[in-house]
Amino acid sequence: MAMLKDGKVVIVGGSSGIGLGVAQAVVAADAHVVIVGRSAAKLELAQRTLDAGSRVSAIAADMTNEQDVARTLSDVGSFDHLVSTAGTPPPGYPIGDTDMEVVRGFVDNKLVGAVLLAKHAVRTLKVGGSMTFTSGINKDRPPVPGGAVVSAVAGSFSYFARALALELAPMRVNIVSPGWVDTPMWDELVGEAKSAFFAEMAPRLPARKIATPADVAPAYIHLMESEFTTGETIRIDGGHNLI
Ligand SMILES: NC(=O)c1ccc[n+]([C@@H]2O[C@H](COP(=O)([O-])OP(=O)(O)OC[C@H]3O[C@@H](n4cnc5c(N)ncnc54)[C@H](OP(=O)(O)O)[C@@H]3O)[C@@H](O)[C@H]2O)c1
Repeated sequence: MAMLKDGKVVIVGGSSGIGLGVAQAVVAADAHVVIVGRSAAKLELAQRTLDAGSRVSAIAADMTNEQDVARTLSDVGSFDHLVSTAGTPPPGYPIGDTDMEVVRGFVDNKLVGAVLLAKHAVRTLKVGGSMTFTSGINKDRPPVPGGAVVSAVAGSFSYFARALALELAPMRVNIVSPGWVDTPMWDELVGEAKSAFFAEMAPRLPARKIATPADVAPAYIHLMESEFTTGETIRIDGGHNLI
């Protein structure tokens, strides 16, 4: 087990939701964290929430923009682990109503962004380091109708990690697949209906609750620390894939 203490972890998406939860867990493990997101205001608020002084730094960048990704990773320099939780709410059109511009934007943000991150991180990630990306329950239990695109994109991450784990060995590459987590993405997606969605889902889940970011952060910490885990997808979904 390679403990995180005093290591440097870059979290793209670290200004909100699951990524901010992982940043809190990284700080609690006495490591340094660089949080990355597009909005400077969200990054500033997250830095205040983390309240860990020089252990936390922030870089505003859009991971769909190759120049931004290259500049970010060059500014970070040598580092130990890359985590990406970046993503935007998924499109939910029945297939016949698909808005191709929205779908291309979603794929660009989620999947192409991960490819760009891996392309540039490989230059400065330390030997023994890891990359962890985020997929999600929608690949196992797609919303019907409208779940085809998000399911395809989320599902592709497992195969992305398996191939990269071989190509980049001994660097490790893994995926976390969360279930429903109460984050600002839900507020953006369904607004005030969020509490009704959660009230309906929570009692059906084997875990009997909707996760908080703190509930799923340990999966990311495990994948960074476990030197024997690579090419793997870890579900942390309260048993959602079973129902
Ligand atoms: N919440 C859930 O129930 C759930 C379930 C399964 C899977 N997931 C997946 O988990 C990931 C994180 O979700 P979340 O709920 O934590 O969402 P969130 O609270 O909205 O956080 C998303 C983060 O990604 C950043 N981001 C988005 N696009 C970016 C880009 N192009 N470049 C850099 N940063 C970017 C956002 O910051 P800026 O907006 O400032 O860029 C923010 O920090 C998503 O990919 C989501 O699909 C979530």
